[in-house]
Parts: sequence; C-alpha cells; structure tokens
Amino acid sequence: MKNQKYLSPSLLSADFGDLKGALKLVEEKGSTYVHVDVMDGHFVPQVTYGQPVISSIRKYSNLPFDVHLMVEKPETSIESYIEAGADLVTFHIEATAHADRCIQLIHEKGKKAGIAICPATPVSAIKELLPFVDLVLVMTVNPGWGGQKLIPYTLKKVKELADIQKEMDYNFLISVDGGVNQDTLKDVVDAGTDIVVSGSSFFRGNLEWK
Ligand code: DX5
Ligand code: ZN
Repeated sequence: MKNQKYLSPSLLSADFGDLKGALKLVEEKGSTYVHVDVMDGHFVPQVTYGQPVISSIRKYSNLPFDVHLMVEKPETSIESYIEAGADLVTFHIEATAHADRCIQLIHEKGKKAGIAICPATPVSAIKELLPFVDLVLVMTVNPGWGGQKLIPYTLKKVKELADIQKEMDYNFLISVDGGVNQDTLKDVVDAGTDIVVSGSSFFRGNLEWK
C-alpha cells in the first residue's frame, strides 16, 4: 500500500471554460483524485473559484475532490466546502490559529483532513498535528500560481515527513504540490511522496503517468 503513488491533477491549469471536459480527461488519465485549488485573494493574491463552482462541477466526476484551500481563516468556510463536494480538505497552517479545530470540523463531517505547509514553513510547525491528519501537503513552490519551478530544498521536508511517517507509524499521506513535471517527478517520488499534484504539466500533456 505504502509504495503506491497517486495522481491528483490540479484544475488550476485547466480551461475554466470547459471544466467538465477537464474532469473527463483527469479521469481518463488514471488519476486517483482531482485537485481543486481555492484562492481567496488574501492568503494568495488571485481568486479562483469557490463553493458554487465546486458544487456545480461535482456531478461531472466520480473521483474524490482533493480541495486545497489557500484561504485565510479556513475555520469559517471549511464546512461550506464540504457541503459543496470536497472529500479531502487541506488548509494551510499559516492561515489559521485554529488548526486543531479545523481538523476536528473536517472529521466531524466524515471527511479527510489535510494540512499544508508553504516552502518556508518547517515540518516542526505541524508536529503536534501529525498523529491526527490524513494528509500533509508540502508546497514545493510558493502558493498562488501554476507553472512555477520546484524549489529544491522543499524536498528535504518530504523526506523528513516520510521518515516520521515510518518511524511513528502515522497514517498520513504526503502530497507534493508545485513544479512537478517529467524532469522533477523522479526526485519527488524518491523523496517519499504518496500523492503527486500536477497542474501545468498534466494539462499540457507532458506528464507520463502509468
Ligand atoms: C499553486 C497550486 C497548485 C498548482 C500547481 O498554488 O496549489 O496546485 O496548480 O501547478 P503546477 O503543477 O503547474 O506547478
Ligand atoms: Zn494546490
């Protein structure tokens, strides 16, 4: 089980005029999840889509929605994203003083909880939460935009998490988000990633996934 790798293509690089077609492609390419990036214009400068768009496209995919909340104070909106169709909800440790409460809110609704860390945030910042989360998302670029280059030092944190996961026998999966392409995929996987998020490379048709 632990050796299995899962693909979660990010809709951020899809044609927003044809999200239904994008979801079809994601499914056809052997993906396990659909990565849905929510940006609020505060935590990151851009705004993408919110609850109404997510609930409207939910019916076009059978895959679980892996919703990545790049929003301030996620505790105020987590439940509405679950109602919109999120199966796995990942929020940023940098965006809230109430991470434990966020995890509890997600679990009370019967969904999986993920915690995300920006490139400059150390693994120690989420140490207390590791026994309780279902996923740790390591940002390998600065959040906010697709198509950036992977920042190499971030992979050391993936390795660190993979070691903790093994040593403590924790259940969380490790997700890597940002700059994954055919050139970086091997290093990303070798570092111990379970879920590979890919936006621009996937939608350009440049990512080989078997
Ligand atoms: C960036 C998003 C990513 C983005 C990755 O803030 O969280 O999910 O879509 O895009 P690529 O794969 O192009 O780096
Ligand atoms: Zn993302």
